[in-house]
Amino acid sequence: MIQEFNKINKVKGELKLSGDKSISHRAVFFASMSDGKSVIRNLSNSVDVNSTIDCFSAMGAEVKKENQTVVVKGRGFKGFKRPIKSLDAGNSGTTARLIIGLLASQNFESVLIGDEFLSKRPMDRIVIPLRLMGAKIESKSNTLPLKIYPVTGLNPINYELPIPSAQIKSAVILAGLHCDGMTTVTEFIPSRDHTEKMLGLEVRKNGTNNTILVSKKNYPVAAEYFVPSDVSSAAFFVVLTLLTKNSSLKIKNVSLNDTRTGYLKILKRMGAKLYFENNYLNSGEPIADVIIENSPLVNIDIPGDIIPNIIDEIPILSVAGLFAEGDFTIRGASELRKKESDRINSLCHNYRLLGLDVKEFEDGFTLSGEIKNKNVVFESFHDHRIAMAFGILSLLLNSGGKVDNFDCVKISNPDFIKQIKSITG
Ligand code: S3P
Repeated sequence: MIQEFNKINKVKGELKLSGDKSISHRAVFFASMSDGKSVIRNLSNSVDVNSTIDCFSAMGAEVKKENQTVVVKGRGFKGFKRPIKSLDAGNSGTTARLIIGLLASQNFESVLIGDEFLSKRPMDRIVIPLRLMGAKIESKSNTLPLKIYPVTGLNPINYELPIPSAQIKSAVILAGLHCDGMTTVTEFIPSRDHTEKMLGLEVRKNGTNNTILVSKKNYPVAAEYFVPSDVSSAAFFVVLTLLTKNSSLKIKNVSLNDTRTGYLKILKRMGAKLYFENNYLNSGEPIADVIIENSPLVNIDIPGDIIPNIIDEIPILSVAGLFAEGDFTIRGASELRKKESDRINSLCHNYRLLGLDVKEFEDGFTLSGEIKNKNVVFESFHDHRIAMAFGILSLLLNSGGKVDNFDCVKISNPDFIKQIKSITG
């Protein structure tokens, strides 16, 4: 489906967004793993989180949804039943990478599959540490499908993350929850910390290094979870408001976890007028209403060590950079090539369609020059964040724009178009 966008004149009003996708996945994991009944409020309505729910339902967890409140009857320690079919993670990297850590620890055989895009993404990053723990995992080319064989137990390890990745960290932690001894995971550049926070794990800090400690004792128990609004979904509306004249917007109850707000810090340094009100804490997660006002922006140097913190927002940050004074450059971001699409390629391709000067590197790109071409049809590459970034860009172009295969936005935000309409009139 091709989605058409016309230039908008003004953004105003208030937005309520669905629950944060990363926190929602983890809430479903921990509720399904617990013995007894958990309640999750404001769960993400994304297709990705539904993939996680489907996998756990197939292993016997009972998940009852009433709007965005979900009641989960979990299976308890090693209480999952063997799924009768392959578990399907759909498009969701987080579902796949986290659930491998759990499946590797079970006493039944399972097969994990995904859609054609997820099936191209690397899984060796998860398989390598799990094999060190004694997991028996078979895969042809370190991609899905994966076959996971039962083991009597896993051995704890001390693992140093070769890539700053919350998904790898979480997979090892999930396996570590099934070990008698202590597993440690050390990261040298911090990545999102929802797993360790939600499980209440001990984290030892040494400069910028974090070492997370986990054992059987930390296995989750039934709980009530509140999921704040998704700060990554908010990014698209933040940038749209900043770049539209005479505009302002309030986004309610946004998760402002420090490992996720790098893009807000960068935008502030670029000159963005951003304010926070009604700050509060819920289950250790800082939450606030974010107020955004139209602002002139200037490009800045984006430091390499912030990349894991802004990894999902780079597509929309580059849109902000395109309209900011000076050239936009992002480097040190080769992980972007391993996302739902090769995001460096997807972004460079679309910016070239506009006639911009684009310099592509293995680990990033530079944008300069003027927009020369009109009536462009951008390619989403079936990647939700690419689709939304170029949807926002189209709303800012005098001649508007179109984005093909736009329905992939449902992967993280099925309400994107409805929300755009509600704030642009
Ligand atoms: C996620 C971690 C990130 C991010 C993804 C969600 C998570 O991936 O890109 O959208 O919820 O753990 P990496 O940890 O592999 O960088």
